[in-house]
Amino acid sequence: MCGIIGILGREPVAPAMIEALKRLEYRGYDSAGVATLENGHLTRRRAEGKLRKLEELLERKPLQGQIGIGHTRWATHGRPNETNAHPHATDRVAVVHNGIIENFNELRTELSGRGAKFTTETDTEVIAHLVTDLMNGGLGPIDAVRAALPRLKGAFALAFLFEGENDLLVGARRGSPLAIGHGDGEMMLGSDAIALAPLTSNISYLEDGDFAVLKRGGAQVYDANGNETKRPVLRSGAASFLVEKGNFRHFMAKEIHEQPEVVGHTLSAYIDFATERVQLPELPFDFAKLDRIAISACGTAYYAGLIGKYWFERFARLPVEVDIASELRYREAPFTPGNLAIFVSQSGETADTLATLRHAKEHGQHVLSIVNVATSTIARESELVMPTLAGPEIGVASTKAFTCQLAVLACLAIAAGRARGTLTEEDEGNLVRALIEVPRHMSEALALEPEIERLARDIAKNRDVLYLGRGTSYPLALEGALKLKEISYIHAEGYAGGELKHGPIALIDATIPVIVIAPYDRVFEKTVSNMQEVAAREGRIILITDPRGAREATIESVAILTLPDMPPSVTPLVYALPVQLLAYHTAVIMGTDVDQPRNLAKSVTVE
Ligand code: AGP
Repeated sequence: MCGIIGILGREPVAPAMIEALKRLEYRGYDSAGVATLENGHLTRRRAEGKLRKLEELLERKPLQGQIGIGHTRWATHGRPNETNAHPHATDRVAVVHNGIIENFNELRTELSGRGAKFTTETDTEVIAHLVTDLMNGGLGPIDAVRAALPRLKGAFALAFLFEGENDLLVGARRGSPLAIGHGDGEMMLGSDAIALAPLTSNISYLEDGDFAVLKRGGAQVYDANGNETKRPVLRSGAASFLVEKGNFRHFMAKEIHEQPEVVGHTLSAYIDFATERVQLPELPFDFAKLDRIAISACGTAYYAGLIGKYWFERFARLPVEVDIASELRYREAPFTPGNLAIFVSQSGETADTLATLRHAKEHGQHVLSIVNVATSTIARESELVMPTLAGPEIGVASTKAFTCQLAVLACLAIAAGRARGTLTEEDEGNLVRALIEVPRHMSEALALEPEIERLARDIAKNRDVLYLGRGTSYPLALEGALKLKEISYIHAEGYAGGELKHGPIALIDATIPVIVIAPYDRVFEKTVSNMQEVAAREGRIILITDPRGAREATIESVAILTLPDMPPSVTPLVYALPVQLLAYHTAVIMGTDVDQPRNLAKSVTVE
């Protein structure tokens, strides 16, 4: 994640931008920069390292200008250095960016062919050249940005500043957050309310696809269809550094919607987007010498581990055993010293998981943990930590941490395949490209929310719900059932589709909704048979699939949620979102305490 700020002020803005960037350092801090208009001319100051370095530079070389943009960076494309620090600029436009532009190589080639001179390794620089190219073609700054956005594939939050335009900032968002600050004769753009708190408490949150034109007198917002729209101005309490809900009614809803951004950020910690290869920290073991991996966790994290098993065994041909932590510890499992034990935990404090980590260590296992709290006990007691970068997860029901855990497990499994020679370079490139596109597919899945909310109205009327899935959709069926029961208190069970006729089919009648998670794949026909068996007994089916699955599911009265096409290797990351949203909206209809369901705690620190 990176942090962005933009200020249309009535006095020099550089000091205020630095204050805002200080509040955004939690989003990343390997380099920073600001740009203002000095006498109408774009002028930048950028520095590698912590924000303090930029502050010192500005003390030596102050920046005037009552309009500016700023950025604190967590490197995705290109090394963390001054050259790659934002803002990126041409002689006509400067831009700061949070997110990932997937098609930056293709745009770079096209624009270079038209004379653009690139000076950095970043994806962001293509945005500056693309807008400039459109302005050179005769478009004004606003129309040039409007025309450039559809050319960008990926997730982004952007703020633009233009040569000679002393009363214009332009902002846009798709998949990464962006807020507007309403001051007294001043206007701002920022990644979140925390950044804007020193400047104003009056905040509007842009929605996905929004485009905003700011002048000192106010903002015009246009939605994804280009229609002018209004976003409510809310009073923010972020001055106290509270994690905010923004436009969302619950933290869980906000965290579900943060997934395109935070999964993209987590992937950027383990993927080199330029070479499209996985890049891991130094490993204290050699995947080629392992004969088994043990994965252990609790709850949702355990289901992430189950999905990881499929990937390790498929990509690296490496046997994996996945255990619920509270079971592995007492099972007296035979451990071969020198093998690898992976522990997955959002909080990093779950007692069962921690106890089992210690047990595995005592039995000579290399211990690697995938945690969302880098300072947690599990992290501190691990030989190697691979953090998920989901940001604080407040809702008790785990959502964004789950998909970030999957992102890390997928990168690990690919690295294992490379080390064991079971993946060619081409295989790895295909798998990595599929991961790079996940944030965009997640944004597309989130667009199904109105349809999902309608389906939730039916689910909320029931006492029992069944989830079915095959392959990596089977652990997702287990996770879907857990999500539903833990926040709506409706009993739900997840089953492998092939198990239906070995007992659970006795449950099926007209009172039982059956959620079938099934992208079109080599076992889809078998899933169609499962659905026919359910339909024959008046069970009510909701099928979550892709366009081909929707065409092939020739069964009456099936409600179908159609997700975009994507490689099978990444479906668990994207199909998790409709599963989360279905549980969330059902719970909202049930009127339960969605963020703090009864009897639960965010971190179970007792065994
Ligand atoms: C998930 O929605 C639940 N709140 C719960 O199962 C949770 O995943 C489990 O307690 C593990 O927590 P951890 O990831 O912090 O270790």
